[in-house]
Amino acid sequence: MGHVVSTARNAADAMAVVTSSPLDLVLCDVKMPGISGLELVRQIRDIHPDLPCIVVTGYGSAESSLDALRAGAFWYLEKPFDQAHLDVVRRLVEQAIEHGRLKAENRILQSQLHQRYRFENIVGSSPALRCVLDVVEKVADTDSTVLITGESGTGKELIARALHYNSRRADRMFVTVNCGAIPEELLESELFGHVRGAFTNAVSHREGRFSIANGGTVFLDEIGDMSPNLQVKLLRVLQDQTFEPVGSSKTLKVNVRVIAATNQDLEYAIREKLFREDLYYRLNVIPIEIPPLRERREDIPLLLQHFLDAMNREKSKGGAITISQGVLDRICEHDWPGNVRELENLIERLVILRGEGEIEVDDLPHTFRQRPATLHAEAPRIPAGGLPFNEVVDRFEADLILQALKQTHWNKNRAAQLLGLNRTTLIEKIKKKRLSADDE
Ligand SMILES: Nc1ncnc2c1ncn2[C@@H]1O[C@H](COP(=O)(O)OP(=O)(O)OP(=O)(O)O)[C@@H](O)[C@H]1O
Ligand SMILES: [Mg+2]
Repeated sequence: MGHVVSTARNAADAMAVVTSSPLDLVLCDVKMPGISGLELVRQIRDIHPDLPCIVVTGYGSAESSLDALRAGAFWYLEKPFDQAHLDVVRRLVEQAIEHGRLKAENRILQSQLHQRYRFENIVGSSPALRCVLDVVEKVADTDSTVLITGESGTGKELIARALHYNSRRADRMFVTVNCGAIPEELLESELFGHVRGAFTNAVSHREGRFSIANGGTVFLDEIGDMSPNLQVKLLRVLQDQTFEPVGSSKTLKVNVRVIAATNQDLEYAIREKLFREDLYYRLNVIPIEIPPLRERREDIPLLLQHFLDAMNREKSKGGAITISQGVLDRICEHDWPGNVRELENLIERLVILRGEGEIEVDDLPHTFRQRPATLHAEAPRIPAGGLPFNEVVDRFEADLILQALKQTHWNKNRAAQLLGLNRTTLIEKIKKKRLSADDE
């Protein structure tokens, strides 16, 4: 079949080959001088758990094929075999090698994932984030349910993965379900599976995410969007880890850790009768609140550098891209309504568009280029007798609008841009305030 073959006359010689050269497959007999083939398989599995072994067992001998499988063999071949069996051998060899390759690959991918979600890769030095990470470290290796809250883009999923990959469940699946993105009718079968014929399109049996995640973690994203009907079913899973697939009366039991996340105010949703209070308490065993980026500005320069480094590593040509002090200043002043995700996307765009050299203020989107100095314009002192609030605010607005119009020679498009307003909003305000060039 084109494979390179090494041979050994006994188990000790075989171990010498196994430890000194990279192998894809071991084929061995059971009866050999010295150590038996089954013991050899055990020893090989200890040092190379991914290396598949096929054991050649004697037909009707005391060591059955079952013993070979128990020892950790991938499969067995019964002696004697003749020309007619060669096809079987060929297929078996191919399958065993493929299996070993997949296992090794899977191990590498897993370790990359572990690497990626190590605490060191969660960037930030703000007290607020350190506080979050303290909790994460303490509860990662427990089975406690965690509820992660925070605005969009703050890192909820990142934290959920860090919890999983730093727990003893790390070698099992981390399964994400976005409760907001899946239509209600489908979500139940997505979570719990269905049997054939359960509904019109259920042409075959389907495993639910809770079964797939058995032994691992289920991450329920956007939990606030779950319908009340499903909330009841989820409550039961949290209480006793049991559920029934859609259309089935058979109760399944799983061992799953649940992590949920939301950017909604669940306590408000409870008051509005949209979210079950009992479910909330079941989920909120360990609450983790990730503050928005604007409330932990110390993290901005670190994250910026982190994303810039990552982009530079990915770039194939040209030298490393840097950013100017002006850009750094503006990025640090920005409010980041889209939080870390917005920052990550901005850096990615800037690096790609620039291609090489230094990113300058002019490369930034328009909103970043205005210095916010005027945002801190002083309000008038309130005299002892008070002041007419609405009138003062009106006057202030009118002043700003007139200034912008003057600067742009009454080009309403550009004036609106200068003020960060919609053109229509600006025009409405001009009308309402009856502003004209005479007011300048
Ligand atoms: N502290 C951090 N260090 C490094 N990367 C981070 C950090 N926080 C967030 N990120 C990155 O920012 C992006 C957004 O994070 P994530 O997807 O976890 O946010 P989210 O809260 O789930 O957002 P959404 O509500 O939009 O789903 C991801 O690429 C994530 O890796
Ligand atoms: Mg998310």
